[in-house]
Amino acid sequence: TRPLRIGMIGAGTVGGGVYEIIMNRLGGGKSGDASSSTSSRGSISTPTPIITKICVRDPSKPRNFHVDPNMTKIVTDTSSITSDPNIDLVVEVAGGVTFAKDAVYDSIRNGKSVVTANKALIAENMEELIGMIGIANGEGGESNSASCGRRGGGGVRFGYEASVCGGIPVIHALQSCYAGDIINEVMGICNGTTNYMLGKMEDGEDYDSVLREAQELGFAESDPSADVEGYDVRAKISILAKLAFGVSVPIESVPCMGITNISVVDFQYAKSMGCTIKLVGTAVRKSRYGEHDGALSVYVSPKLVPNGHLLASAIGCGNAVSINSANLGLASFGGAGAGRYPTANSVVADIMRVANGTCPTAPFPPVPSSSSFVDDIDSDY
Ligand code: NDP
Ligand code: HSE
Repeated sequence: TRPLRIGMIGAGTVGGGVYEIIMNRLGGGKSGDASSSTSSRGSISTPTPIITKICVRDPSKPRNFHVDPNMTKIVTDTSSITSDPNIDLVVEVAGGVTFAKDAVYDSIRNGKSVVTANKALIAENMEELIGMIGIANGEGGESNSASCGRRGGGGVRFGYEASVCGGIPVIHALQSCYAGDIINEVMGICNGTTNYMLGKMEDGEDYDSVLREAQELGFAESDPSADVEGYDVRAKISILAKLAFGVSVPIESVPCMGITNISVVDFQYAKSMGCTIKLVGTAVRKSRYGEHDGALSVYVSPKLVPNGHLLASAIGCGNAVSINSANLGLASFGGAGAGRYPTANSVVADIMRVANGTCPTAPFPPVPSSSSFVDDIDSDY
């Protein structure tokens, strides 16, 4: 079986972890031309993923992982990945909504599957992205996909597990486990940086030094105002709302308050009430007199969370998401929400799903029909 050839855009905190797992731990780096290799974790027909190209901004920058020059070429232009006919899958772990967006769009137009950790890109371009993936897969007409039917099965596949809550497989759960259920509420601590900071601030450390620590640990965005102002959670809760309710929520319509105004005294008040403070994203079907009235309320804000509540159990860079639904009731998902290996694990899981053909070609649910109970977005507090 020919390997699944990957071009990776970005090789920082997340990309370094993806490279190490794929090339060292899963054996991609030992597969040579891999003309007959198979994945040690997949079935006999699952192609082994190998990273053949990496695109970075500065190739002379020292990396804290080893790139094998015999296996992987380092480039600085995304087009040498997105238009390379030998590349099956583009993994975008660079971030931002400008050049990364062009690279993802070019990849899809060129019929390549995409795996990305970029929540800002997805949340800001949800409908356009869905349309583009649909066209590439021949929805509503001819496919423009040059390479449909190549490695990993036909079609352009799109994986984004790492974009929300880092290592927690909450996207996969929402894509596959609620098919016969009705979700009423999704609520979560979706940002590792601010959760790490709030925990340390509760213990008396000051804001600036804990933000620096979160940056050094690789949790923070390149512009950390996305973390502390709540914009990162806003993007993530918009993605979760799409998955849970089918509705694309424009991020600019989501009320958003971050943690920049939280101070020591707030923790003292919280403690006196048996609570802690968490930055929480919420998407909930509103109800009146106990009946759901159809409107969806989406917002981001710091919340008082009672000690003992499952959201209070997220510590350090940990994230936690609770989902309340008609059949399953309250379910929770927890784990590391940021950091190299937890996030890379989600990226690699998507890569393996592309390799074995189970990563979806329609990765977001359709907009609900007019008869659906979700018929309105009301993003107030
Ligand atoms: P880093 O800043 O560590 O890495 C970014 C990488 O992208 C670097 O290798 C950089 O190159 C490259 N890059 C940036 N701009 C360009 C450009 N114009 N041309 C070519 N290469 C470029 O980011 P992270 O790994 O932390 O994050 C990557 C993505 O993953 C983001 O979307 C982030 O939101 C998301 N994410 C991050 C998590 C985390 O814990 N860090 C968790 C979940 C998602 P160079 O190295 O040369 O500077
Ligand atoms: N900056 C983000 C966080 C990375 O701290 O959660 C993970 O999406």
